[in-house]
Amino acid sequence: MSLLRGGLVLLSVVVMLLFCVSAGPAAPTTSSRSGEYGSGFPADCSRLRKNSPSGVYVIQPAGSPPRVVWCDMDTEGKGWTVIQRNTYNTEITWKESWTTYKYGFGNVRADYWLGTEYLHLLTQQNTYKVRFVVKNKANVTHYAEYDIFSIESEASGYPLRLGRFSGDGEDYLTSYHAKYGGIHDNMKFSTHDRDQDQASRNCASSYGGWWYDKCQNILLNAKNYILWPGICSSGDCKSSLILVKPTDVC
Ligand SMILES: *[C@@H]1O[C@H](CO)[C@@H](O)[C@H](O)[C@H]1NC(C)=O
Repeated sequence: MSLLRGGLVLLSVVVMLLFCVSAGPAAPTTSSRSGEYGSGFPADCSRLRKNSPSGVYVIQPAGSPPRVVWCDMDTEGKGWTVIQRNTYNTEITWKESWTTYKYGFGNVRADYWLGTEYLHLLTQQNTYKVRFVVKNKANVTHYAEYDIFSIESEASGYPLRLGRFSGDGEDYLTSYHAKYGGIHDNMKFSTHDRDQDQASRNCASSYGGWWYDKCQNILLNAKNYILWPGICSSGDCKSSLILVKPTDVC
């Protein structure tokens, strides 16, 4: 019996090692194979050394050109790639076109959107988790984490796919809220010039691009309006962050 269990443990260790060797931090090999851009940039911020400080780094998800991002090495667990950052009094309007959202905009040291296409490429390479962080008027930070985060292709409308929720508030992304905007999970991305929401009007004509339903429970892509029910129900959160990281970093 214990021999059998020992064998199973050994087997799972071997399987894990094989997985890590094939899918793990083989960044230089992966990038040199990707040819024209190749020069060994990490695929995301989780590949940085654990003692690296938070700051601006170049990453290169598979199939993507090198991208400049903010790596968050302070939030729990380190190694988070920042895909969105906003502050209430932001300089940017967030009312950008589909194409501008696709390739990203803003200032990597301040408020920015990494680019919907890069969210897609990033989350294709591995199983990613996501952490949405907002700071309320009293400077208290709250978060919602989902153990799966994936953005599908542009051809399918960049829909949002989320896994199981954990966090310190209610789940407003994967559960349905009739009195707000419905649900965000599985919604396509909408911008003012590409209306893919479930409302008869164009939700993105008032604010920025987002995974609107009819229209929103939560909204982080807007100027002077960062909305999270129960934390900043009138849209007056001071700041927001969206962080992603592979679920299993070998
Ligand atoms: C929140 O933090 C800012 C900047 O650190 C500070 O100026 C402000 O007074 C703080 N507000 C509250 C309500 O603590």
